[in-house]
Amino acid sequence: MTRPLQLGILGSGRGSNFVAVAQALARGEINATIRLVASDIEGAHILEEARLRQLPVYSCRRGAFKTKLEPEIESDLALALKNAGAELLVLAGYMRVLKAPLLEAFPGRILNIHPSLLPAFPGLKAWEQALHAGVRETGCTVHWVDATVDGGPVIDQARVPILPGDNPQSLHHRIQETEHKLLPSVLARLGNGTLPLPAVE
Ligand code: GRF
Repeated sequence: MTRPLQLGILGSGRGSNFVAVAQALARGEINATIRLVASDIEGAHILEEARLRQLPVYSCRRGAFKTKLEPEIESDLALALKNAGAELLVLAGYMRVLKAPLLEAFPGRILNIHPSLLPAFPGLKAWEQALHAGVRETGCTVHWVDATVDGGPVIDQARVPILPGDNPQSLHHRIQETEHKLLPSVLARLGNGTLPLPAVE
């Protein structure tokens, strides 16, 4: 048996992807331990979901910017994740751009779930972008995080058809249902070694 993944989870919102991971863990499907659930938003629902499961939580101080954390706040977050024993950071709905403090604390060890078939539709509200573009299918992607926005190497993707009559809500809902299978499945494969962690220089 490979050594369990030591996970840090970082999210800004509802936390439905975190819940899907926690449920798969509870069913014994992922060889991992969640060391810390962190949020940049003090009252984020993801923290409630973590507390319900008796998991340690951390929330960042309020900063001046909306799209990124101030370097000092991000450094403190990185330290909290490291001190908790996290070795692999999962971005589960983290709504800010990741900067040097976290990228340098977890080189090659950060993954993200994004609601489109990257490289199509990076950035915000990818399901609305897909609807506006008139494409017939979209999906979700789990990828390694680098300094680009939604541009790091793809790990795995799942397709979601766009149906006649779809609106942003219905499409987003269907993509999320797919995310809730894809993210736990990637973590399960990383945890049992069938998907290798990238080599780090
Ligand atoms: C997901 O759709 C994910 O793809 C995107 O943010 C959303 C987070 O949803 N990065 P939740 O907080 O996991 O419910």
